[in-house]
Amino acid sequence: MKVCIIGGGGLVGSCAAFALQCGGVVRHIVLLDANQALAEGQALDLLHGSPSTSDQCIEAGGYEQVADADLICITAGLRRKPDESRLDLINRNTDLFISILDNMCSAGVKPSACVLVVSNPVDILTYIATRRLPLPPAQVLGLGTQLDTIRFRSLIAQRLGAAPTQVSALILGEHGDSMVPIWSSATVGGLPLEKYPGWSHQAAQEVFQRTRGSGAEVIAKKGGAGFAVGIAIRDVVHAIALDQRRVLPVSTVQEGLYDIRDVALSVPTVVGRGGVIDRLAIDLWPKELTALRKSGQVLRQTLLEVLKRVGI
Ligand code: LAC
Repeated sequence: MKVCIIGGGGLVGSCAAFALQCGGVVRHIVLLDANQALAEGQALDLLHGSPSTSDQCIEAGGYEQVADADLICITAGLRRKPDESRLDLINRNTDLFISILDNMCSAGVKPSACVLVVSNPVDILTYIATRRLPLPPAQVLGLGTQLDTIRFRSLIAQRLGAAPTQVSALILGEHGDSMVPIWSSATVGGLPLEKYPGWSHQAAQEVFQRTRGSGAEVIAKKGGAGFAVGIAIRDVVHAIALDQRRVLPVSTVQEGLYDIRDVALSVPTVVGRGGVIDRLAIDLWPKELTALRKSGQVLRQTLLEVLKRVGI
C-alpha cells in the first residue's frame, strides 16, 4: 500500500510517518509539505532508520505522487494565533484545506483511494472533503475521536495501574469540546470498569476532564501532540491496509445512525479495505445518546456557518 502524508514535514505528519515505519505494514510512504526541504529532511531521517525497521520505500515528493496513492492522509493545517477566535481559525484552515483538496483533484486520485483527514477542525474538514472529492463517502474518513479514545484508555489505565491494552473504552462525537465519554461499555480485562477495584465516580469525572483537555495540555507543555496522534493514525491506516474490520471511532458523514445526519462525527465504525464497511448503533445509556446528538447539533451549527462562507 502507498500512503501519501500531506503536511508530512510537520509534527503530526512526521510522527504518523514514523509510526507507519515502525508498524512495517505499508509498503511506500511519501511525505508532501509546502516546506519541501522540511519534508525531504524528515524523509531522509526516516530512511536512515529503514535497515533496522522494515523494507519500505520512504521519500518526499509532490502532488504527482497522489495519483497512484492508495491512502492520502491530510495533516496540514494552521495553529490558532493568540488573538484569533475559533471561527477565524476554522475559516483560515478551511481555505488551506480546500486548496489541498483541489491540488489532489488536479493530480487525480485513484477511484479506490481512501482519504484520512487529520487537520482540524477534523469533523468540519471531513465533511468538506466528503462533499468535494470525487470519491464515495465510505472512502473519506476523519481521525475523529480515535485519538481521544486512546488518550482516554491510557489515562484510565494509569489511574487504575491497569494494563493499557486491556482497557476498552470509547469517546464518540466531536473531536472537540462536545466529545462524549461512553462509560456504559467500558471494561478492563473484559470486566466492567464500574466494578473495578479503586474506580469511582470521581475518578471517572477527573479522567474524562483530563482526556478532554489533553490536546490543550500537550500544546501547553510541548507545542502540540505528535506521538499519540501518529499512533492513532496508524490504527486507522493499518485497519484499512490489512482489511482488519476493526471497530474504530472515526469521523464520517452520518446518514441517520442514532438519528444523526448530514454532519461528520465519530460513531463506532467498522474500518477495513475501502474505508467504512459498516457503522454500529450499539446501545448507549440515554444520557450518552442525548450528549451524542447534542454534539452533532453543535457541529452542524458551525458547519452551516462554514459552508455558507465557502459556498459548498
Ligand atoms: C489534538 C489535536 C491533534 O487533540 O487535535 O491534540
